[in-house]
Amino acid sequence: MDARSTLRQSMRKKRRTLTSKQQAIAALKLLVEIKKLPLIHQSKHIALYLPNDGELDPTPIVQWCWTMKKNVYLPVLHPLSHNRLWFVKYTKHTPMTRNIYGILEPKAPYRFIRPAKMLDTVLLPLVAFDNKGGRLGMGGGYYDRTFSFIKQFNAQKPRLIGLAHHLQEVEKLPIESWDVPLTAVVTDHGYY
Ligand SMILES: Nc1ncnc2c1ncn2[C@@H]1O[C@H](COP(=O)(O)OP(=O)(O)OP(=O)(O)O)[C@@H](O)[C@H]1O
Ligand SMILES: [Mg+2]
Repeated sequence: MDARSTLRQSMRKKRRTLTSKQQAIAALKLLVEIKKLPLIHQSKHIALYLPNDGELDPTPIVQWCWTMKKNVYLPVLHPLSHNRLWFVKYTKHTPMTRNIYGILEPKAPYRFIRPAKMLDTVLLPLVAFDNKGGRLGMGGGYYDRTFSFIKQFNAQKPRLIGLAHHLQEVEKLPIESWDVPLTAVVTDHGYY
């Protein structure tokens, strides 16, 4: 196994050991940290995710965004394009369905899709991060493929902000040419 898969395995195991109480506290602390970012207050279209596999839970942020009248989007596996994501508007009334990974995603008509380029900020999950904006995901390359245009065209939007438990930080990640760099990482302990 290479360095990336070994690290993925150990980090996923580590975050899965967090109890539901620890997860709930971390999720509330995350909201406090997120609200400190001017970038979030300036954003009208924010994509995030529903937690899986011990990921830091952004659902308190969903509630806050709704209260603030911001548009919230969730990733959906693209039905045609290999290992890419679509972003679909998420409200309290959105019908949900489970994808092939067992993760809940909106089951909404195509008119609720917002192109990745038209999102202001994307809060994305990760398995491990370093303090240089390096991100290791679950290994599917979904976020890397979907946002490759940012690197390719030096696009200013969307801003990619990784969310993670502080214990997911590593000294230095083995980064590949296709990995999209993060603008910031926000944990339950603070902002990088
Ligand atoms: N822009 C791209 N075009 C084509 N293939 C890509 C692109 N980005 C990544 N890949 C491929 O996807 C695979 C997985 O990438 P990687 O290991 O970086 O996943 P990850 O960042 O952990 O996953 P994710 O983005 O889903 O969180 C690699 O084999 C890589 O070659
Ligand atoms: Mg990657």
